[in-house]
Amino acid sequence: MPDAAVHMRGVSFTWPGGTGFRLDIPELTVKSGEKLLVSGKSGAGKSTLLNLVCGIAVPDQGTVRVDGTELSGLKGPDRDRLRANRIGLIFQMFNLLPYASPLDNILLPLAFAPARRERLKNPRREALRIAAALGLPENLMVQARAAELSIGQQQRVAASRALIGNPSLIVADEPTSALDEESQRVFLDLLMEQTEAAGTTLLMVSHDSRLSSRFRRALDLASITGKQEMET
Ligand SMILES: Nc1ncnc2c1ncn2[C@@H]1O[C@H](COP(=O)(O)OP(=O)(O)O)[C@@H](O)[C@H]1O
Ligand SMILES: [Mg+2]
Repeated sequence: MPDAAVHMRGVSFTWPGGTGFRLDIPELTVKSGEKLLVSGKSGAGKSTLLNLVCGIAVPDQGTVRVDGTELSGLKGPDRDRLRANRIGLIFQMFNLLPYASPLDNILLPLAFAPARRERLKNPRREALRIAAALGLPENLMVQARAAELSIGQQQRVAASRALIGNPSLIVADEPTSALDEESQRVFLDLLMEQTEAAGTTLLMVSHDSRLSSRFRRALDLASITGKQEMET
C-alpha cells in the first residue's frame, strides 16, 4: 500500500507565547490522491493544522508524516526543502509578489524546489499552460503586475503557483473566502479539474462547511480534535 499523503498521530501543539490555544489531533490520514475538506469556525485551528502539515510549525508531541517522511525527524532546512518540493501552498491572502508579473509569481516556487523544476522541460510554457487552464490569458500573465489583477484572477495565479511542477500535495487555506459565490464555484471546478488530472492530493480548510458538497470527503475540525460533544 502506498504511503498516505498525510498522516498525523498523537499530535499536540501550542503556539509559543502562551495564548492558551491548543490543538490536539489524535489521528488524521489523508490518502494519496484524496480531496479532503476540513471545516471549522474561525479560530478553531484550521490554519494551525495546515502549518503542522507543512512543517512550518512543529508539534510538541506526536508525529506528522508527509508521503511517509516524518517532519519532526528533519532539520529546519530539510523541512523547508521537503515543503518546497512536495507541497503546493495556496494561502488565504494569496501572498503574491505585488510588483512582479503573474508569470514570475507562478515560477517563483521552482527556485526553491529542484524536484518540481526538474519535471519541467520548459517552466515558462508550463506556467502559461496552467494559467490558461485556469482561465488566465497569456498577455495578462506577462504584461500585468500581480497587484493589478482582480481578486479572482489573483486567486487563480496563486493556484497556478501551487500546481506548477506537480507537487504531490496541494494545501489550501480558505482559498475561496474572498470570492463571490459564482467565482468560488468556478475556482473550485478548475482546482478539482487540475488536481484530478495530475492525481494530486488536495487538503483544503474553510470556515464554510457548505463547500463540503464539492469534496469526496469532508470533516469537521472538531471531530478530528475530539472536542465535539459525544452524540447520545
Ligand atoms: N502564528 C501564530 N502565532 C501565535 N498564535 C497563533 C498563530 N496563528 C494562530 N494562532 C492562534 O491559534 C489559534 C487558532 O488560530 P488559527 O489556526 O489561525 O484558526 P483558524 O484558521 O481556524 O481561524 C488562535 O487562537 C490564534 O490566535
Ligand atoms: Mg485560518
